[in-house]
Amino acid sequence: MEGVLTWVPAEWVAAGLAGMPGVDVQVVGLGRDMGESGAARVPASPASPAPANVADVEFYVPSFFPSPAGTAVLAEMKRLRVVQTLTAGVDWLRPHLPPDVTLCNARGVHDASTAEWVVAAILGSLRSFPAFTTAQAAGEWAYQGTDQLAAKTVLIVGYGSIGAAVEQRLSGFEVTVRRVARGPRDGVAGLADLPALLAEADVVVLLVPYTADTAGLADAAFLARMKDGALLVNAARGAVVDTAALVAEVSRGRLRAAVDVTDPEPLPPGHPLWSLPGVFITPHVAASTPVSRQRAAQLVRDQVLAYTRNEPLRNVIDGAY
Ligand SMILES: NC(=O)c1ccc[n+]([C@@H]2O[C@H](COP(=O)([O-])OP(=O)(O)OC[C@H]3O[C@@H](n4cnc5c(N)ncnc54)[C@H](OP(=O)(O)O)[C@@H]3O)[C@@H](O)[C@H]2O)c1
Repeated sequence: MEGVLTWVPAEWVAAGLAGMPGVDVQVVGLGRDMGESGAARVPASPASPAPANVADVEFYVPSFFPSPAGTAVLAEMKRLRVVQTLTAGVDWLRPHLPPDVTLCNARGVHDASTAEWVVAAILGSLRSFPAFTTAQAAGEWAYQGTDQLAAKTVLIVGYGSIGAAVEQRLSGFEVTVRRVARGPRDGVAGLADLPALLAEADVVVLLVPYTADTAGLADAAFLARMKDGALLVNAARGAVVDTAALVAEVSRGRLRAAVDVTDPEPLPPGHPLWSLPGVFITPHVAASTPVSRQRAAQLVRDQVLAYTRNEPLRNVIDGAY
């Protein structure tokens, strides 16, 4: 092989690179693909032998849900220059990244899908869709009034790429939006203002990356600051929330929650979150849509092209996330 050896996790990613000069593409799926059911593939074990040319890989795109083998293989990639994830979050990869390898995430790719999930989760929870779905399954005409989104205050904690997309989508819903990020700026508060903002919000949306600073950010004190009856929406990472503290607040009927991500993940059978009234759970699906796939394939194409042309890469992670 003479071109840039590029490992991609699936045929749909490879298709985006078809015909690109100076690139040798190989499909090596070490994990679960986007949109693939959990049962569809047994993830390779860390002991599975990688293809023989592993040491020549220069550009690596891991699976959307990598298996341990998908990250362990990094240690064998002696010529590796770039890791391009299909995910916006890179917390799962950071501990395995060899020094001097450029890491790029998929910031922007999942904005539409994830923001849509957030809006759907807010509306579904406030309008009691989970309860109506349960009643429908039982064939019951269970009339009841519901809450609504209009006139509410929505606090976005982690006002980045997806946070802004959420605000854009909420613009027709007659809500007041408040924003928090690491660095305060015009219209966006810093962490110092978080306690006061939590006390005023009807809906709190978590969209921070998972880092040492955000681990357990939504702890007992954070949740205690939230209004009675408020809704916590977690589309970030499960461990951003102290799950035991959330279970305690929801069990008392003080808070509601809609979560796409949990700690642990997958949430094991019998976990208290499954059966708590007021909790809506989806299995980390917010970004798993055709439009995210399309945009991820385009990003990989753009990045590989830029790399082969010695042009700057997008979404280079040089800080904590
Ligand atoms: N559920 C899913 O399927 C799914 C899909 C996509 C993404 N995600 C998660 O969503 C996260 C956000 O994605 P994104 O693309 O919007 O990222 P992003 O554009 O990098 O935005 C992250 C935001 O979080 C803020 N932030 C970072 N650390 C913080 C802290 N300690 N306290 C408060 N705010 C903090 C940042 O503040 P500054 O602007 O001041 O830096 C930024 O506003 C990802 O990292 C990923 O974990 C989940």
